[in-house]
Amino acid sequence: MSIENDLALIQDFDKNYCLQVFNLMPVAFVKGKGCYLYDTEGRKYLDMIGGIAVNCLGYNHPKLTSAITSQAKKIVHACNYYYIPEKSELAYRLCRASFADKVFFCNSGAEANEAAIKLARSYWYYKDINKYEIITADMSFHGRTMGTIAATGQAKFSRPFEPNVPGFVHVPYNDIDAMIEAVNPKTAAIMLELIQGESGVHPADLEYIQAIRKLCTEKGVLLIFDEVQTGVGRTGKMFCYQNYGVTPDIMTLAKGLGGGVPIGAMLTTNEVATGFKPGDHGSTFGGNPLACAAGNAVMEAFDSEGIIDNVKDVSDELFDKLNKLRTKYNCIRSVRGKGLLIGIEFDDTITAQGMRQQLFSMGFLVSAIGTSTIRLAPPLILTKAQAGQFVKALDKILKNVAGPKSVLGRIKDALPSKKQIRESASGVGSAKIDKLDEMGLTGGKDNKPVDEDD
Ligand SMILES: Cc1ncc(COP(=O)(O)O)c(C=O)c1O
Repeated sequence: MSIENDLALIQDFDKNYCLQVFNLMPVAFVKGKGCYLYDTEGRKYLDMIGGIAVNCLGYNHPKLTSAITSQAKKIVHACNYYYIPEKSELAYRLCRASFADKVFFCNSGAEANEAAIKLARSYWYYKDINKYEIITADMSFHGRTMGTIAATGQAKFSRPFEPNVPGFVHVPYNDIDAMIEAVNPKTAAIMLELIQGESGVHPADLEYIQAIRKLCTEKGVLLIFDEVQTGVGRTGKMFCYQNYGVTPDIMTLAKGLGGGVPIGAMLTTNEVATGFKPGDHGSTFGGNPLACAAGNAVMEAFDSEGIIDNVKDVSDELFDKLNKLRTKYNCIRSVRGKGLLIGIEFDDTITAQGMRQQLFSMGFLVSAIGTSTIRLAPPLILTKAQAGQFVKALDKILKNVAGPKSVLGRIKDALPSKKQIRESASGVGSAKIDKLDEMGLTGGKDNKPVDEDD
């Protein structure tokens, strides 16, 4: 039996047999090539979200596909009683490319962060120093395990699962005074994303990160960068910390590292690595030959295919074009991010869900964050021409719906119904409201903001 090409059946099976923890769009992709995905009906989409920053080499990349298939023919899994050549090689590649001396492999971003949290505590434990607190930022996102939801600075992720793991403190992001105040003799580590991706693509300020590094060094606090989303070329450097001219003590990776094959990694210095003794941490699948072969193929492609240069070139062009759109349409509130991790925030005349839906119907995939931001994290092999197609589509949508701010700006409700718009926007032509509604860019019961978390 195969249900591969029957969307109704796939949806039926999903509803009946899968835990309903995701808000799914009515589409299933059955193949991909480069930056394009194809659904069960053969429709083609330009993937501007890249499996949420995972498919860095796009789909069916020759090097990655061949590395995975040839590794599958050799050996898929070998347990961690034995040396694994692919793992040793990937660890070497990662250390060569970063500040790190040692790597621990696991299977996801949350697991990499769990390893970082454990190491930050055990490092001080073995020194016989009582430090265990970890400071993270409000609106951060670090994963879905019990430890990482406690680290995450958004209560909505942990509330149903309380009591939370103790020892985490949250402070406002980009606020050095708040951080200085929070650090105390019990502080083991500060853990930060350099760009908060999940909560809307908010970059950390340069001075903030440099001051944090100084603070950590002065106070004897470990600095952890969660680069699960920003690592592996995403921001135009191999690792995002390289944009800031500072190095962390611990860094976590996942997403792009395997180009789509699940893998996570925690990287650290020789000094901090002394915090794990044999038996302190482990993972059955972590560092398996298949995932590491994929990781090596990704790193190889970065070395030989100019991926980082492409990110910089395409990013410059994309930001330039998006900023031009911003000057053309008042409803674009901001365009922010770095490299190919970009957030586009709209004012309250346009909903993120509606925009995502409209782009989807035109064959473009993005993610929606909260009520007003769409996120782009396309494959890092995106071309300038493809970026241009996306901006053209966005322009076309906005041309149809956006008017002078003085008129549409009166629509205050983030999710107004058609009726509410008619009532509140007396100056807006009826045809324009119908158009907004028809395009799904107004609210209404079918257009609620759904949480589309990572
Ligand atoms: C910054 C960051 N940390 C951790 C995670 C969790 O990664 P995973 O879903 O692989 O567990 C994510 C996922 O989006 C993330 O963006």
